[in-house]
Amino acid sequence: MKNEEYKKYLDIILEKQALSPKGLQMHMQAVADMAVTYAKEVGYDVESANLAGMAHDLLRHATPEETLEYAHSTGFVISDLMEKVPMLAHGPAAAGWLMKNIPQIGVDVILAIRDHTFPADDAPMLTKILAVADTLEPSRQIPEREEVRLMRIPFEQRFMEVQRLKKLPRKDKKQS
Ligand SMILES: [Fe+2]
Ligand SMILES: [Fe+2]
Repeated sequence: MKNEEYKKYLDIILEKQALSPKGLQMHMQAVADMAVTYAKEVGYDVESANLAGMAHDLLRHATPEETLEYAHSTGFVISDLMEKVPMLAHGPAAAGWLMKNIPQIGVDVILAIRDHTFPADDAPMLTKILAVADTLEPSRQIPEREEVRLMRIPFEQRFMEVQRLKKLPRKDKKQS
């Protein structure tokens, strides 16, 4: 994307991000930094990785009504579980918010944000990058995740480790 476009998109995202709780803003920024690092490792577009990280949780603290409204606006299929527990639809909701506010943004960014909580094993590369960055973001301070973050392994292997971690039951389980 052109530099002016990238800056314009980032400004729109930052304006919305400023309305989120401080801790969540810091989480989105840390995830964006990590997504850029993984993008460099695999040779993916770093600006798209940064935008995906910066926007992925924009609707994380929205009301259930707003979450479902944005999620439904995408036209994507929303699972029954998400209908019952709207917080789980915060990825599709953020995707819907982006489609409305930055319709020209890349479809890879939209799909990565939509699926960041429950990525498929064969997800597109940017979806994998965002899911890994989000799961391993260090402020979470979860020992088994720190272990995977610090492993010296290729990216695809790290993604498979993240998929394994996501399937583990956790007492303090919070959906990222
Ligand atoms: Fe999230
Ligand atoms: Fe997140």
